[in-house]
Amino acid sequence: MSGPTVVLVGPMGVGKSTVGGLLAERLGTGFRDTDDDIVAAQGRAIADIFVDDGEAHFRALEKAAVAAALAEHTGVLALGGGAILDEGTRALLAGHPVVYLSMDVEEAAKRTGLNVARPLLAVNPRKQWRELMEARRHLYTEVAAVVVATDGRDPEEVAEAVLDALELKQA
Ligand code: S3P
Repeated sequence: MSGPTVVLVGPMGVGKSTVGGLLAERLGTGFRDTDDDIVAAQGRAIADIFVDDGEAHFRALEKAAVAAALAEHTGVLALGGGAILDEGTRALLAGHPVVYLSMDVEEAAKRTGLNVARPLLAVNPRKQWRELMEARRHLYTEVAAVVVATDGRDPEEVAEAVLDALELKQA
């Protein structure tokens, strides 16, 4: 199947963009992020799309962004943390080399401070993160060809583990 060499999914703050950038460098290819595509196309921040138009509208924009990126991009692609919530988006991912970057709540707290810049974690970050993961974990697993745990690993180590898991290493 044509399309991206790697598609990264996983919760916000897990390092999809950082690891994606490193992977693209290692593979000598480009990096694309559907959040960035949506912001560029809409000319406004994701938080503003949530506030102005609601999450359902954002998910529809996200599905279109994922479909376009899967069709056009052959490098490394990262999806927003909630992209897997939409059944149509999950269907689009079938057959692609999807990697679920996982982390536990302690790692999430360490890595992001569970900061308030993300609209879905604005009130009680740790509790909301746990609830989000309870609702989403099985969906990440469902779309993923492989799962790479990021706990206690720096981005270089995670990128290495992704290359190993997908057997993308140069000899
Ligand atoms: C979201 C994750 C964000 C962004 C939006 C919603 C989510 O992307 O798409 O704020 O529902 O988990 P990142 O995972 O890149 O932060």
